[in-house]
Amino acid sequence: MDGAQAPQIAPVLILLGPPGAGKGTQARMLQDTHGMVQLSTGDLLRAAVAAGTPAGQKAKAVMEAGDLVSDDIVIAILRDRLSEPDTSAGVILDGFPRTKVQAEALDALLEDTGQRINAAVSLEVDDTAMVERISGRFTCGSCGEGYHDSFKPTAKPGVCDKCGAKEMKRRADDNAETVAQRLDAYHMQTAPLIAYYHETGALVRVPAMGPINEIAASLNTIANVLKS
Ligand code: AP5
Repeated sequence: MDGAQAPQIAPVLILLGPPGAGKGTQARMLQDTHGMVQLSTGDLLRAAVAAGTPAGQKAKAVMEAGDLVSDDIVIAILRDRLSEPDTSAGVILDGFPRTKVQAEALDALLEDTGQRINAAVSLEVDDTAMVERISGRFTCGSCGEGYHDSFKPTAKPGVCDKCGAKEMKRRADDNAETVAQRLDAYHMQTAPLIAYYHETGALVRVPAMGPINEIAASLNTIANVLKS
């Protein structure tokens, strides 16, 4: 093995947090800065719904009600996406896992590829602020960049700062009633994963009530450690 380098194992970073915690916002920033790929099960499911696939047809009503889609469907979607070649640069899991069954399935998937979870970041926020964050959210219909009416407006009204497109979208599940149900689902089914990752030693708690760039600075430090 003189001078030979061990093959680089792609890092895996999980972002945990309730709806509106900033998982998508921070995952996109990490992707742009560090070249790791954002894998959002919410985005993958919305694409399946839009394409009318069998999984999408089953997921549609569940997502509109603010409940969690079944583990089988989500694990299958994630497994397929993880097998694509761009994930070899490392992945940021945004919104997955969300149940203990999903966490155990992820452990098994990573064991097969010789990878491990390098960090499970819990974005720590107050529920009360999440409705305001979610109700002001909109995204670019072309590149998917995320914005907020008050906290992250576009520089020019109605025009994406990133790609210049003029088509902005709001999500069907971003209404007060569904957000309340999504928060309940988070506390009942996903918050227990904080203890799960505390036990495995992967948990990192990041206060996430401050400005977007302040939280991004904390996550950059974590990503730099993963890559070193
Ligand atoms: P998903 O798409 O994952 O939605 P979510 O978890 O509810 O999270 P959000 O996308 O609402 O919030 P976020 O944390 O990404 O916040 P964002 O960065 O956008 O899931 C949707 C549905 O799909 C689920 O309800 C479920 O049905 C299904 N699903 C998905 N994954 C599943 C799984 N694994 N298992 C089962 N079902 C699954 O920020 C929100 C807004 O706040 C933005 O406007 C942003 O600009 C702004 N903002 C962000 N950070 C800050 C800050 N620090 N200060 C001020 N504003 C901020």
